[in-house]
Amino acid sequence: MTDSSSCTPPTRSLISASLATPALRADRWLAVLSLARKWSGNNAVDIKKNLSSSLGKLDELEKFFAYPGAQLLDRLKNCLIEDDNKAFLRLAQRISTTIVSRKYHRDASSWNMDDHEDEPLNRLPQAITHLKNTPYFEVLSVVPHAPSRWPIIQEEARGVRRPEDDFIYQPVVVGNAQDALTGILLNPDISAVVLYEGFAAQNAVDNPLLAAFQSVIDFSTIEDDETLVLQLAQAIKKIRPEMDIYLLSDRNIETLAGKPESRLFNRIFYQMEEPLELHLSILEGIRNRYRTPFFDNLKRYAQRPIATFHALPIARGKSVFTSNWISDMGEFYGPNLFLAESSATTGGLDSLLEPTGNIKDAQAMAAQAFGADHAFFVTNGTSTSNKMVLQALLAPGDIVILDRNCHKSHHYGCVLAGALPYYVEAFPLAEYSMYGGVPLRTIKQALLTLKAHGDLERVKMVDLTNCTFDGHVYDTRRVMEECLAIKPDLIFLWDEAWFGFAHWSPLLRQRTGMGAAAALTEALARPEAQKAWDEQASTLGENPDDETLLNTRLVPDPRAVRLRVYQTNSVHKSMSALRQGSIVLVRDVDFEHVESQFHEAVFTHASTSPNLQIIASLDVARRQMQLEGYGLVSNALQIALEIRKQVNNHPLISKYFRVLNSAEMIPEAYRKSGLADYNTPDISWDQALQSIKSDEFLLDPTRMTLSCGAAGFDGTTFKNILADKFNIQLNKTSRNSVLLQSNINNTRSDIALLIRVLVDIATDIDKKILDNDDGYQKSFAHKVHELVDDLPALPNFSCFDDQYREQATATTLHGDIRRAFYDAYKESECEYIALDSPEIDQRLQSGPTLVSANFVIPYPPGFPIMVPGQVITQGIVDFMRKLDVKEIHGFNKALGLKLLKRVSNKT
Ligand SMILES: Cc1ncc(COP(=O)(O)O)c(C=O)c1O
Repeated sequence: MTDSSSCTPPTRSLISASLATPALRADRWLAVLSLARKWSGNNAVDIKKNLSSSLGKLDELEKFFAYPGAQLLDRLKNCLIEDDNKAFLRLAQRISTTIVSRKYHRDASSWNMDDHEDEPLNRLPQAITHLKNTPYFEVLSVVPHAPSRWPIIQEEARGVRRPEDDFIYQPVVVGNAQDALTGILLNPDISAVVLYEGFAAQNAVDNPLLAAFQSVIDFSTIEDDETLVLQLAQAIKKIRPEMDIYLLSDRNIETLAGKPESRLFNRIFYQMEEPLELHLSILEGIRNRYRTPFFDNLKRYAQRPIATFHALPIARGKSVFTSNWISDMGEFYGPNLFLAESSATTGGLDSLLEPTGNIKDAQAMAAQAFGADHAFFVTNGTSTSNKMVLQALLAPGDIVILDRNCHKSHHYGCVLAGALPYYVEAFPLAEYSMYGGVPLRTIKQALLTLKAHGDLERVKMVDLTNCTFDGHVYDTRRVMEECLAIKPDLIFLWDEAWFGFAHWSPLLRQRTGMGAAAALTEALARPEAQKAWDEQASTLGENPDDETLLNTRLVPDPRAVRLRVYQTNSVHKSMSALRQGSIVLVRDVDFEHVESQFHEAVFTHASTSPNLQIIASLDVARRQMQLEGYGLVSNALQIALEIRKQVNNHPLISKYFRVLNSAEMIPEAYRKSGLADYNTPDISWDQALQSIKSDEFLLDPTRMTLSCGAAGFDGTTFKNILADKFNIQLNKTSRNSVLLQSNINNTRSDIALLIRVLVDIATDIDKKILDNDDGYQKSFAHKVHELVDDLPALPNFSCFDDQYREQATATTLHGDIRRAFYDAYKESECEYIALDSPEIDQRLQSGPTLVSANFVIPYPPGFPIMVPGQVITQGIVDFMRKLDVKEIHGFNKALGLKLLKRVSNKT
């Protein structure tokens, strides 16, 4: 495929359809369009028949969308009835282009019934008067009325519009709860739902898409209207928590309003007694999400004539625009950047370090949007967010169970806090020279080992990366449940630097730290949780052995649990924040007891000159995700699933390249569902659901490891070729792969570009192999062998040297990384030995032990193969010697390995 518009319409597996539901509609339009093209050149009966059936399938979905609406669709169908293939193609093309470009959001002429879009607006059948730049959304009404009345309901909704409205919406009407859920899944424009009490529960036909959400949408046992209304509202909030919901009831609304469940509704009205009030409430609901307290204020600030006598000459831009030499900077960035700069916290700009005004407000809005109790903006990246959390929650001597492959900020965080890391190992993916996630069994084993040594009380935190750089997503809820069963007050830090977007995917959300914390809070409050704990206690008895505990799916004691969950997100990595925009999210029942130390950590790490534009972008990124995150994330998922399919099914590309699937990235033991590939068409529903709900690891579809070893490229070389020759940028590489990532910014054209480029590169490789002699082919095969088969074994964390361990004989792994770190400050305590020197081998054989003085982090793979105080083993030396990467942080080849002299050396 080189051009998405000419490709055959994709078919989706149900799991990929559920991860990216809104894409189904685009697929169906593509199917109609491609048949319409065929029909316009060939009036064969079977094409018309196929077209009619494709149109029928499209029709099933179109009722959930305001555009193009019943009338335009009828016109299209009439073209088919009237056998007018040219008019059919013209109109189908126009509608699908309008849908893809979302022109109907901002251009009223899109709604024109005629063939020509540029007719005067007064010929439009509906009162669509919106102007460019008025944000557009759709409102779903769930009604008990007969379908014949629906156009009247829609007309009434349009009738209350006023010229001064700051947003414009179109109504969509459905008649039952199941359709309502299908609507909010399919149509990302729906931003508010109005429930008219009395609507039906089920649709006559079962919708397989809804199976993914079975646990939240079982309406079969509902007996009365009020329960149905509440259940539907709950299901909507579970799928799209940001949705505004309004209830129109003709019963005793005062009683309902007094119930706690009424909080699900933005407002409850007595039937249609107040259409204008409903309209204004709908707009108000959107306005509440649209509001960006800090950004709004910054814009106002920029417009004021302010003289500055503070230390930021660039503010207001006068030193730039009047300069002889740097005015091009002003032209490049435009005046607003400078007008919106200030080093003051006055003038309503608030202070990031001590927020009391609009930053506080913006953070509270972010907390709510991300499903947290508290949110803190950070302007120095998640590198800083992690250090803040570690410093705030850990004291010297505390033990933290830490993924050794996590980002370096965690290791440095331990050095700063004086906490002792107990490194746990992720499962290795040696064929690709990378690691996955840490198996739950390993984490439980660490806790049990520490317990056996009487150290469990000192274990304060479990700190993991979710998802990993390469896309391994934990079952966050299960990890927390089982760990809390062993120690009920553990704190969890989920580094979700890459995974912030997942909150806006109904299926991935449950695997985020905050999503799991919300589900766990709910679950622990139910009587079943206590029952499960009691049953477990009686089955396991007083003193179960470790093996039993490791083999049991543990549940925590709800009475003892203190749920304390922290999540850090690089908002800039997956949402529209400027670089370094990051956020700390908190759901900690004991937060009030650590709040002051949390603020100390903020004071320690945050700049006293935080960048205002980054703060504003965090505010705006939240607005965007709350209003269109669902659609954007679905689109990013769809693009990833499509790239996976196109690359792996392309006959030429797949000879040399491959996007690794779940089976290749996650060992079978952690994929109980057996799900191997998102695009396998015949995955059963049970399998798909089990995978998302309970596989120990799930692959984030948007993180695509493209193996390039079979093309004879190592990751770094291939990354450079893509960047230098084809303007394709990417982030991470391994020895034989590069990591592609789709995000909310990508379009289908990006897929086309990538495929085109891979076809070109593959063609070139093919040609070289054909054109050259045997010698070339042998050397190509050798290169591929080296990259694909001859990979150095990944070295595990060994242990800290005895001098940094409390009990040298103990089998526990934690060590005093901070002391080792500072020991390396004393030059007399350090020595250097060249990596290739025989002295290294001799020391490995007969001592004294080689002890690393610092972090050594090769890029790729990017995890520390040595930390300060760590014993260097043969495996580590072999890995280092075989490593052919140029960038190794903490290692200077000319000087050699920096070692801490052992005590035995010193005497
Ligand atoms: C897992 C993880 N955590 C934290 C960070 C640091 O994030 P930032 O670049 O926002 O400082 C990274 C950076 O790549 C990362 O991969």
